[in-house]
Amino acid sequence: RINEKHHLAIGSVDIVELAEKFPTPFYVIDEQRIRQRYREFYNAFSKHYDKNKIKIKYACKANSSLAVLKILKSEGAGIDAISPGEIFLALKAGFKAGDIIYTGVNRSYDDLKYGYERGVVINLDSFCEAEILKEICGESGKGAKEKPKISFRYNPEIKPETHEKLSTGLKESKFGLHENDIIKAYKFAKKHFNVAGLHMHIGSQITKAEPFIEACEKIMNLAGKLKKNLGIELEFIDFGGGVGIVYKEGQEFIDLSFLAEKMMKIIKRKIEEHSLSSELELFFEPGRYIAGDASLLVARVTCVKRTPYKKFIGIDAGFNTLTRPAMYNAYHEIIIANKADFEAEESFDIAGNVCESGDIFGTDRALPKVEKGDIVAILDAGAYCMSMASEYNARPLPGEIIVNKGEYKVSREKGKLEDLLRNQVVE
Ligand code: LLP
Repeated sequence: RINEKHHLAIGSVDIVELAEKFPTPFYVIDEQRIRQRYREFYNAFSKHYDKNKIKIKYACKANSSLAVLKILKSEGAGIDAISPGEIFLALKAGFKAGDIIYTGVNRSYDDLKYGYERGVVINLDSFCEAEILKEICGESGKGAKEKPKISFRYNPEIKPETHEKLSTGLKESKFGLHENDIIKAYKFAKKHFNVAGLHMHIGSQITKAEPFIEACEKIMNLAGKLKKNLGIELEFIDFGGGVGIVYKEGQEFIDLSFLAEKMMKIIKRKIEEHSLSSELELFFEPGRYIAGDASLLVARVTCVKRTPYKKFIGIDAGFNTLTRPAMYNAYHEIIIANKADFEAEESFDIAGNVCESGDIFGTDRALPKVEKGDIVAILDAGAYCMSMASEYNARPLPGEIIVNKGEYKVSREKGKLEDLLRNQVVE
């Protein structure tokens, strides 16, 4: 990834050249890397099962840029959407409603109605949501054939051993229904909806296989109970997302083929044991695994500051542009892109341009001699970075460049000051 000019490159495109052409900060996405990661994930699981029955529902909260969605559409993915906005973007990118699973939490009447009217599969998080959906169906005047396809989100009570804010299937989590409640929920759903599936998602940036394996066993047993006790023949089981990526060299990670092999063994055994449908589809919802390391953020050094106590590199991006370090204390590798293979000389904290002390991208990073104007690349910024960017401090959103085998194009213009006025009504 380092070229003969000692510059960092992505998808064979020189980052420093991009920084000369486009205003920093901006994201750069490598199309081929997304394709490669999608295929890796799909192949790991489909190797062990009927290929047509393994469905990757890309969790587009990780990165919902149209450019990314279109790449995954062309690979044959479906979508896991969390909001009307994500459904809207997925439909714009060309996904069919039937290929979208709409998993939310605490959705309003309007949120659920949006999904219902478009005909996406609705994954319900609670009784409240089920009751709201029933009300929506009652009012729609659509016939019995138009009952929405639904699933419920199961909370398997598993510790995924990740950041506490990224754990979603704990006893104490706000998500999903626990075992006894979910059985009652399915009883209710059988009367009012087209019951199609069962879902779980235990957390994100998980680096061990065990929690997935344990949860897999539990959800398969629950599927067995639904069949035995309620006669429910599931069309799909959705195992959620959560497979972590390596942000820091030496960090623990999951061997995906090992995980897939272990999970698929359990799944096949349980399908037999509980006489589940031989047509059962298996959904997976990776977000970070697919998009995470396919993108980086490019920013420029505005200041090298030495205080009596600390040494800072100041850059022209902040936690409005890339939130993860400030929000989760997350580690992202930081490289001086125009001196990519230079020897490290000194350690610095890399500070952003937001007016808050928590706006630090990395501490005590060994870097080569850094000067004002140098180009900084923050790596592994494809998941939960652009999609979590905000206009805090009244800075318009960053732009986005997509690269493909040495070619590049703008996939999102940098925001404009006028954007800050949109929707504001002032006399
Ligand atoms: N499915 C559901 C229902 C989810 O809630 C999520 C992520 C995923 C799939 C995808 O998980 P992944 O494969 O990307 O781990 N903002 C945080 C991550 C929040 C994840 C939320 N849910 C971060 O920056 O680390």
